Amino acid sequence: MRITPSILSADFAHLSDEIARIPSADAIHVDVMDNHFVPNLTIGAPVVKAIRSATDKMLDVHLMIEDPDRWAEGFAGAGAGSVTFHIEAARAPVRLARQLRARGTRAGVALNPATPVESVAGILDEVDLVLVMSVEPGFPGQSFLELVLPKTAQLRRMIDDTGRDIWLQMDGGIGLGTAEKCARAGADTLVAGTAVFGAGDPDDMIRQLRAAGGGP
Ligand code: DX5
Ligand code: ZN
Repeated sequence: MRITPSILSADFAHLSDEIARIPSADAIHVDVMDNHFVPNLTIGAPVVKAIRSATDKMLDVHLMIEDPDRWAEGFAGAGAGSVTFHIEAARAPVRLARQLRARGTRAGVALNPATPVESVAGILDEVDLVLVMSVEPGFPGQSFLELVLPKTAQLRRMIDDTGRDIWLQMDGGIGLGTAEKCARAGADTLVAGTAVFGAGDPDDMIRQLRAAGGGP
């Protein structure tokens, strides 16, 4: 079980210090919001570039933006190890995934809670990660939506059928009370913002989440 903490819940004035507090993280999840695809505005590629120089960890960029076809490659150029775009927003998702992978960046595709698995069936062979939103995207600290668990289990089977190494990531409302359910549904990568950065010892929380999700 990989744990990829979201810096959306970190102290933005001290990002490099915050990242230094989580050496056990498998990657740093960076939430990019444009106030169009979601009703919130966060950071862009220049900040990703700055974070890149502050850590050796993989940067796992989650684009909650309209027109990822236009912007995603800039995040690859800023040093992201993985760039995930929403299937609801991409106009040419196959081309976009291929452009990202051609740059040596892992390509990810995300689905909102009500988006059916069929919407990504045609693109599984083109991506390295599928992200299932377990809250409506936009804000940290929301409650986990259990209704996405059957969909996650379905995606697990579809990914296994490809025989490829595609990460199945869940994002939103994940903490000690929900990590095990995610793991049972077949997720292998969990994003946690509030749970990690709201904890007294964020690195210990990562280890606890990993254990709750079945270890090691
Ligand atoms: C939701 C973002 C998240 C989220 C995680 O729109 O994609 O990554 O803020 O935060 P928590 O863990 O607090 O739900
Ligand atoms: Zn996210």
